[in-house]
Amino acid sequence: MEIKVTQGDITQQPIAAIIVNLFEGVTTPDGATGAADQALDGAISKLIADGELKGSKGHMSLIHTLGKITPERVLVAGLGKSATFNLDGVRAVTAEAARYLRGKSVRRFATIAHGAGIGGLDPRGVGRAMAEGLILGLYRFDKYKSSTEGKQDIEEVFIVESDNKKVEELAAGVEEGRALAEAATIARDMVNEPANYMTPTRMAEVALDVATEGSLSIEVLDKSRMKDLGMGALLGVAQGSNEPPKLIVLRYNGDPNNEDNNLGLLGKGITFDSGGISLKPSEKMGDMKGDMAGGAAVIAAMKAIAYFKPRLNVVGIVAATENMPGGHAQRPGDVVRVMNGKTIEIDNTDAEGRLVLADAASYATSIGIKRMVDVATLTGAMVVALGGHYTGAFGNDQKLIDSVIAAGKQAGERIWHLPVDDDFKKQYESSIADMKNIGGRAGGSITGAMIIGEFVGDAAWVHLDIAGTSTSEKGAGWHTKGATGVPTSTLVHLAQALGAG
Ligand code: BES
Ligand code: ZN
Ligand code: MN
Repeated sequence: MEIKVTQGDITQQPIAAIIVNLFEGVTTPDGATGAADQALDGAISKLIADGELKGSKGHMSLIHTLGKITPERVLVAGLGKSATFNLDGVRAVTAEAARYLRGKSVRRFATIAHGAGIGGLDPRGVGRAMAEGLILGLYRFDKYKSSTEGKQDIEEVFIVESDNKKVEELAAGVEEGRALAEAATIARDMVNEPANYMTPTRMAEVALDVATEGSLSIEVLDKSRMKDLGMGALLGVAQGSNEPPKLIVLRYNGDPNNEDNNLGLLGKGITFDSGGISLKPSEKMGDMKGDMAGGAAVIAAMKAIAYFKPRLNVVGIVAATENMPGGHAQRPGDVVRVMNGKTIEIDNTDAEGRLVLADAASYATSIGIKRMVDVATLTGAMVVALGGHYTGAFGNDQKLIDSVIAAGKQAGERIWHLPVDDDFKKQYESSIADMKNIGGRAGGSITGAMIIGEFVGDAAWVHLDIAGTSTSEKGAGWHTKGATGVPTSTLVHLAQALGAG
């Protein structure tokens, strides 16, 4: 899909459909919507007066122009209240309007830049949010459908701005948004892929493609290297599966003379989580093909980081394996030793994410990572606590937590800070090892986070539990049903912010 920014009058575009917009409570529209209204002899204000058009958020109304203006159809997209309208609104309404027109078999359309005229919304941000809304909102995963008949794609979108001074910034924003959204698309594709295709080996191949395109260095540690390094927790999870595990290490060197100016992005890459010997119930077990969403977001973020080139060093580390109940599988009661020497008693083989991340975090500290963010579909308890709209954040460093949450705001990915506290430590004490891998039902997301935190050494650390946010049941706004790509964009914004600071 091509996205072009042009200067002009939207009502004069020789195109099948145009999108204008309406805030709630407006009775006589101005700007481009006003121009369209006038050209249509007051059709829009009539619909408002009749109560059919209210401008409520996400409401779409299609008007046929019947030759009065060049565009054949005008879509009026509701923006909701102007006081609360922001870039998240731009992203969402752009996505919904584009999906609406695609559903009407439109292939090319022009749209005004939503909100570019109001104070506080800079054209660059609007351009970025619109490109994100278009690319992510129109995303489809249909490669396994034999027939996609009747499912056409949008080929071309024109963002038409009357004010020439804004065109350049809008266009620059569109390019940024494209880089961010195309990265998130990589993450979505990986998560949506079934587990028989998206194996640890395949994840490493995707990472290799990302590395090649972005001139990143890559190292993929195999089982024997893991053994040499003493990654007993990762190997313990992997031993029940016939798929070979991979520890994927991607490096971007944006500040080579300043080695300590670094950021580690760690991802849980469980390509299928059956639970292992502590087998999960069969209902919805298929969703566990997405248990590598953290790893997918890390690989995807590295792609955009290579594009934006922030001034810091970023290492992406993805611990990829299946969690299967094979004959060699680890048992509840087993004890494993993590790379840093600490031991963990396996009380439940289904609490595998923290095990693979324990070794990933130990590895990160061993190579001198000073700040790290791990991303994981770690706990079902997270879905209970925050649902599908907020990612949970845990950590040992308020400054880094604040940076991550701020990056999430820019990305339109909501993150909520939850506590870690030594009072929870008792819950995962073991009588025979340094700790157990579970801490019981009470505060299950907190103890899960804290077990990872046992392996971060002196690094500033944030854990993001995306169990609820990595997929969407229905899809709305820029989210489509299935994988969301969250928190790819947050990670990219974080790297940019840390690189600038
Ligand atoms: N991958 C799951 C967590 C999960 C559940 C992600 C639902 C997305 C949706 C994780 O490995 C897991 O099984 N966690 C257990 C931990 C428990 C055994 C302490 C859980 O949440 O039940
Ligand atoms: Zn899991
Ligand atoms: Mn599990």
